[in-house]
Amino acid sequence: MTKKISLIGAGQIGGTLAHLIAIKELGDIVLFDVAEGIAKGKALDIAQSSSVEGFKVSISGTSDYEDTKNSDVIIITAGVPRKPGMTRDDLLSINLKIIKQVADGIKKTSPNAFVICITNPLDVIVMALQKYSSLPKNKVVGMAGILDSSRFKYFLSEELNVHVKKIKSFVLGGHGDTMVPMLELTTIDGKPLKELIQSGRFKKETLNNIIERTRKGGSEIVKYLEKGSAYYAPASSGVEMAESYLKNEGKILPCAAYLNGEYGEKDIYAGVPVKIGNKGIEKVVEVKLSENEKKEFSHSVQSVRELFEAAKKIDPSL
Ligand code: NAI
Ligand code: 2OP
Repeated sequence: MTKKISLIGAGQIGGTLAHLIAIKELGDIVLFDVAEGIAKGKALDIAQSSSVEGFKVSISGTSDYEDTKNSDVIIITAGVPRKPGMTRDDLLSINLKIIKQVADGIKKTSPNAFVICITNPLDVIVMALQKYSSLPKNKVVGMAGILDSSRFKYFLSEELNVHVKKIKSFVLGGHGDTMVPMLELTTIDGKPLKELIQSGRFKKETLNNIIERTRKGGSEIVKYLEKGSAYYAPASSGVEMAESYLKNEGKILPCAAYLNGEYGEKDIYAGVPVKIGNKGIEKVVEVKLSENEKKEFSHSVQSVRELFEAAKKIDPSL
């Protein structure tokens, strides 16, 4: 049967998600936005590309949650991006209110959906979404790690002139300045990154610059765009998660998942490798971390906890 995918938020990422999903024919698409005209206009525009691209899926726009009923996958990008002069807490406060509305909208209409959250600040918003909606924790997951890993791999590939597909790596932890690239697990064309550093073929200083650029990957793009943030790579990353679920691919992907003791952390969402198949998050994969990576990971999770405490002050019901 044709799958149904609802995209809550029809802004820059929502529209790009819709186009990618249509081209890949992953399922019928419902674009939802409080700005109904944007949802309807983008749906029509994308549908009109079908004769060129040759896809056959239905695409509609709406501002009524009834139209998203019984979705197999829901991808949430509803929210506002941080604007100049806005504090982190201002953004948190606005997006928490929005995510509460979204949780109310989807929990009754699509109780069985696999829900991917993209709205920032990612780890805290996905945790709030799970709490507000009470949907199963293995079906509510955040997108950030694929994007952060993809940026890291792209920068390495450019520096080393190696095809990006030959670079394997994970970036874990929270989606922010404290994210942790897994250097011990990083391989370049099958060779450990560590060996390249030890042999002097790749300078430690260059690697450190790439790590820093990855951590600031989002703001580098914001500076260029001036209005808004990245959307092509975020949309590709969200689609990879949806596809692994819909096609039961069982891919191991870095995502913000609920931790219940894994990596020594309890009752928190953070970026870890997870297996995504048709049951949702089927497993949190515990990779071996070096002592330094353990320290950095726990520091990163601590910053997610602190931000969640700030969220609880804004909404004590959390
Ligand atoms: P955008 O501003 O283009 O789109 C957001 C859309 O949400 C707008 O069309 C707006 O009308 C809609 N919206 C607002 N309130 C709503 C509500 N209550 N219900 C439904 N829709 C509502 O933003 P863009 O560029 O698509 O980014 C979306 C979010 O994704 C932002 O929070 C951004 O910070 C975040 N983001 C997260 C990344 C990650 O790695 N997790 C990467 C890039 C962006
Ligand atoms: C990004 O990493 C802004 O979180 C967004 O591009």
